[in-house]
Amino acid sequence: MGFTSLKYKPKANDLICKFYIDPERGLSLKEGAEHITAESSIGTWTEVSGIRPKLRKKIAPHIYYINKKNKTVKIAYPADLFEKGSIPQIMSAIAGNVFGMKEIRNLRLLDVSFPKDIINSFKGPKYGIKGIRKMLKVRKRPFCGTIVKPKVGRTAKNHAEYAYKAWVGGLDLVKDDENLTDMKFNRFETRVIKTLDMRDKAESETGEKKIYVCNVSAETNEMMKRAQFIKDHGGRVTMIDILTCGWSAFETLRNYHPNLIIHAHRAGHGMFTHNPKHGMTMLTVSKIDRLIGSDSLHIGTFGTGKMKSYWKEELHIRDALVKKKIKENNKENILAQNWHHIKPVMPVSSGGLYPGILPETIKRGGTDLFLQAGGGVAGHPDGIEAGAAAMRQAIDSVMKKIPIDWYAQDHKELAAALKRWGTGKRIVYYEK
Ligand code: 3PG
Ligand code: 3PG
Ligand code: MG
Repeated sequence: MGFTSLKYKPKANDLICKFYIDPERGLSLKEGAEHITAESSIGTWTEVSGIRPKLRKKIAPHIYYINKKNKTVKIAYPADLFEKGSIPQIMSAIAGNVFGMKEIRNLRLLDVSFPKDIINSFKGPKYGIKGIRKMLKVRKRPFCGTIVKPKVGRTAKNHAEYAYKAWVGGLDLVKDDENLTDMKFNRFETRVIKTLDMRDKAESETGEKKIYVCNVSAETNEMMKRAQFIKDHGGRVTMIDILTCGWSAFETLRNYHPNLIIHAHRAGHGMFTHNPKHGMTMLTVSKIDRLIGSDSLHIGTFGTGKMKSYWKEELHIRDALVKKKIKENNKENILAQNWHHIKPVMPVSSGGLYPGILPETIKRGGTDLFLQAGGGVAGHPDGIEAGAAAMRQAIDSVMKKIPIDWYAQDHKELAAALKRWGTGKRIVYYEK
């Protein structure tokens, strides 16, 4: 089909994709790449005419890198192939039909690099790391929070009481779980009103800023109404399950939300990120997230928590969220990226965290982090308030550079948490 030109030097305005391609038997990597390039842009299964030659030359993609050893290719797509400001259109091209083609056994979108023209058509985070720090008046330390547990089952009143205890215990944020929205036994509006009342009470008692990360995930119009409801009742943060709601809904929330911090949850990503030969990487998800513009995003616990995690990969994901420029790294399948005006996103570590493990999580992930624990707060032997205090004390010990078990000697909540869960013997390393 003629898309391969290994001498081609990508232009500043090309969108670049790196794919792992495992073609069906009988087909070479190059042939597989040609099929993918055609299907994701100006071609189809057979040669068709109709494009004016001048335009074809302008918009035809180029396969400019083929690595037979690790079955990877890089394709440069001219930016004109894409509608500006539309992730659904971009994804329907580069991650659409190509994932179901007969010629391809396995296909993985390893990374996407967005050119300036496309970057300029998106807003990126409104607040980002700096904005969140400013709102919460916390300059250096990582943030700590909890997810009300169990995921669903508490009433709105019960939820608000839980949140209050967590805030006065010392946590910055209380978050709804990904599957808590508007339930018969816990209505969205009642929960927002009651929980924000408790937030105000906790703020006036502690003198600290607190946030309620309230899940608005729903059908898009309903979701926007819920975001407005949060704003009208004095809330500052909203949360969306970006993958189950979909890119378009996420874009709508980002473009029209009433001035709220957006917390992005990635529930469902494992469906296509875990198989190393097929799907799309979490790195790619994170870059799209930053482009659209959540202010914080779940990326994992750098191997310290309960979820399956390739922690070195998570460090690259963190970099993609926080750095202004990323260098190309062929070995790690990372493309170069300049984020231009797009602000950094706060990485969120969550899933199986508990106080004793936080020094290791911070050591690996840095201090620009949301550290969240559900069971690691609620499961504290002396209750939620003590569980919250232990989380905060664990972070304080790191910031004061005091070994956590020393610090625990005169912090009884932390001591009880260490007694119950220890300091990391449960870490499981999943290396590739
Ligand atoms: C959560 O906080 O709801 C979960 O731990 C999922 O977080 P993850 O997307 O970071 O795994
Ligand atoms: C989850 O859904 O996994 C969480 O919200 C995190 O909960 P955990 O701290 O109890 O694992
Ligand atoms: Mg959860």
